[in-house]
Amino acid sequence: MKTILQINPDKTLSRIAPEIYGQFSEHLGRCIYDGIYVGEDSEIPNVNGMRKDVVEALRDLNLPVLRWPGGCFADEYHWRDGIGPKEKRRRMVNTNWGGTVEDNSFGTHEFMELCEQIGCEPYIAVNLGSGTVQEAAEWIEYMTADGDSTITKQRKENGRTKPWHLKYIGIGNENWGCGGSMSPDFYANEYKRYQCFCKNYGKNQLYKVACGPSAEDYNWTKELMSRIDHCHASGISLHYYTVPGDWEHKGSATDFSDLEYYTTIAKALHIEDIIQKHLSIMDKYDPNHDIDLLVDEWGTWYDVEPGTNPGFLYQQNTMRDAIVAALHLNIFNKHSDRIAMANIAQVVNVLQAMILTEDTKMLKTPTYDVFQMYKEHQGARLVESHIISSCCDSGANINEPVVRYQDIAIPALSESVSITEQNDQKLLTITLANTSLTDSLCVELELHMKYSFTGEASVAMLHGDVHDCNTFDDPDRVRAFASEEEWNGNIQTVTLPACSICRILCHVS
Ligand code: AHR
Repeated sequence: MKTILQINPDKTLSRIAPEIYGQFSEHLGRCIYDGIYVGEDSEIPNVNGMRKDVVEALRDLNLPVLRWPGGCFADEYHWRDGIGPKEKRRRMVNTNWGGTVEDNSFGTHEFMELCEQIGCEPYIAVNLGSGTVQEAAEWIEYMTADGDSTITKQRKENGRTKPWHLKYIGIGNENWGCGGSMSPDFYANEYKRYQCFCKNYGKNQLYKVACGPSAEDYNWTKELMSRIDHCHASGISLHYYTVPGDWEHKGSATDFSDLEYYTTIAKALHIEDIIQKHLSIMDKYDPNHDIDLLVDEWGTWYDVEPGTNPGFLYQQNTMRDAIVAALHLNIFNKHSDRIAMANIAQVVNVLQAMILTEDTKMLKTPTYDVFQMYKEHQGARLVESHIISSCCDSGANINEPVVRYQDIAIPALSESVSITEQNDQKLLTITLANTSLTDSLCVELELHMKYSFTGEASVAMLHGDVHDCNTFDDPDRVRAFASEEEWNGNIQTVTLPACSICRILCHVS
């Protein structure tokens, strides 16, 4: 039995929005404080309080966009508490996340500075749940207006003369739950009122995102979409977390059985079905596809690391997480005609993080490596590709390869392919994941006959035991490695070890 990936570079599809590779940062546990912001007086090397090691690691990913300040925190955040002299900033209780006291030392100026240091777009979630329309409107004015209104003068007095560029704003977060327990019709009306007063100042054009559904809540999508149109919103959000167990007993991040692994993978893959169903509802109300879908929270969610604060959502990250990330990103690439952004939760020290920190130490998780391997997809064009299994004896083509475990059946191979043009040369990025824990997979990459591979190909591989993770004592235990190979002709074979992710960069002509 042969597994073949057929690729036709002539069949280019949607552009993969770089923002699909976005991240999420919330005032939750040690994400902002410790993880990103340590203050200027810290012994940890920093630039204006931002950890140098973390900023550098995120720059290396070409991080396109960062969402802030939450999450549930967004709907109890009052932006005025986070501006002006730090010693005067209001101290509040972070009621969602461990009841810690938030000193607001990281506010709007600090977040915008962080985005400038990383080189990414800010994506700001405005408080609809416990805020006011005036407060939301004035935050937009504070950030984006020029001139000498009282509010812009205040920004200048606080050290920022020029307005910031701000494209993405979300209006509320999970307003069906922590953001106000609203019904969809009530939220839709509130949303319309809020968005009306979030103005475009000067050349700044806002891209407004309405709070969309959680997972399979198709009714929310239907009710929301029947009440808004593209004049109100450029996109709606979707949140979907991969939880191996149930919300009471989610399961351990590191100590899990094969059954829990395959359950996790099946649940991760379920996002494709969810996306398709929400998109088909959206199609009914928005047949011209003027409103995008943004998966602005996704990732694995386990029981917290033993001994850590349950409200801080700190978890380890293994090869299982790397496979989950690879599957999601391939699915998002394949739906890039409608998905304009995705933000994995969260960037540092929370849930499926890229980065973990402990005092002065910092490590990159296996999920980080997946984002590093996939970054060439950002802004490239999706290429049509198909997996087939061919029976060697008969030559007959049958369905794609499947892994079976007890009553679970999942595709063995996940893939996506994109293309860019560099100096008149076509560069393919092919990303593959083998979901089997036991079997390697030999994949024949078959270019359309018109094309052939031309010269050097870079093949990066991330694999290991599914439980492998990076620790502060062994920070590079799981790491992708790349090799250069000479590829010619229109067929090439790669062997994917069990539980692996592979990224190929190759020229074709
Ligand atoms: O990412 C953690 C939390 O998950 C967010 O605050 C909330 O939006 C979601 O329920």
